[in-house]
Amino acid sequence: MNTLHLARELRAQVEQWRAQGDTIALVPTMGNLHSGHLALVEEARRLATRVVVTIFVNPLQFGPNEDFGRYPRTLVDDLAKLEAAGVDLVWTPPVAEVYVNGFPPATTITVSPIADQLEGAFRPGFFTGVATVVAILFACVRPDIAVFGEKDWQQLQIVRRMVDDLRFGIRIVGYPTERAADGLALSSRNQYLSEADRAQAPKVHAALQAVAAGLKAGRRDFDELCAEQTALLAAAGFKPQYLEVRAPSLAQPTADDHDFVVLIAAVLGGTRLIDNLAVSGH
Ligand code: PAF
Repeated sequence: MNTLHLARELRAQVEQWRAQGDTIALVPTMGNLHSGHLALVEEARRLATRVVVTIFVNPLQFGPNEDFGRYPRTLVDDLAKLEAAGVDLVWTPPVAEVYVNGFPPATTITVSPIADQLEGAFRPGFFTGVATVVAILFACVRPDIAVFGEKDWQQLQIVRRMVDDLRFGIRIVGYPTERAADGLALSSRNQYLSEADRAQAPKVHAALQAVAAGLKAGRRDFDELCAEQTALLAAAGFKPQYLEVRAPSLAQPTADDHDFVVLIAAVLGGTRLIDNLAVSGH
């Protein structure tokens, strides 16, 4: 496995692979890898002959009061996991290799209006940070395919839209969320949870399942359905930020729809948990 820091080294290696007829799949990450990330790598290996993983904690997608400083950085462990997973190249650029003309960059990408709602309403600027860095990573790696986790459903829709609008010509693949046995979606931020909060955290997934059960039973009173679960979570000590039913595209749902996604964000202790559940064919 090749571990590189400079964009020009990355380009040279990718170009050499291309010249010999390889296809390239990219898995962008911020490191602190868990089995959810490794599932994305496995999917990437199925889809292309070469897999590139980027590890970059992107300062542009953290708000001033967010966890950029304490975001877990575990590069040695991450590289060992990626090597064992059969990754061909890991790019771990310093900030100056990504934002070549200084930080913050003069040019950013905003995908409106989907970036302004749900996560975007609670984390202003977050999706501009994500879309901008993903566009830069795409420009540096120039992959055929990029694999993203469905855990960040809204991020996935925003990346798809950006790639479509800006004609990047990259196939975006979403991969289902990996969960712990009790239903908690795997996330690098789960390690912020205290033992007591970790025991409570699966209630987030349980709330999604309860809303999904209501939809499958034919309920279309979306707001009421979500309000019931929001109240239960609040009573259990969570601070729910949103719990909403949407169409998979994130458009507002209608009573005639059959496919939905239920999305949630809730704070427990100091930890913000997000999750979602797709409900199809009901
Ligand atoms: O999902 C993430 O880990 C990040 O948002 C991403 C896509 C790597 C961009 O920094």
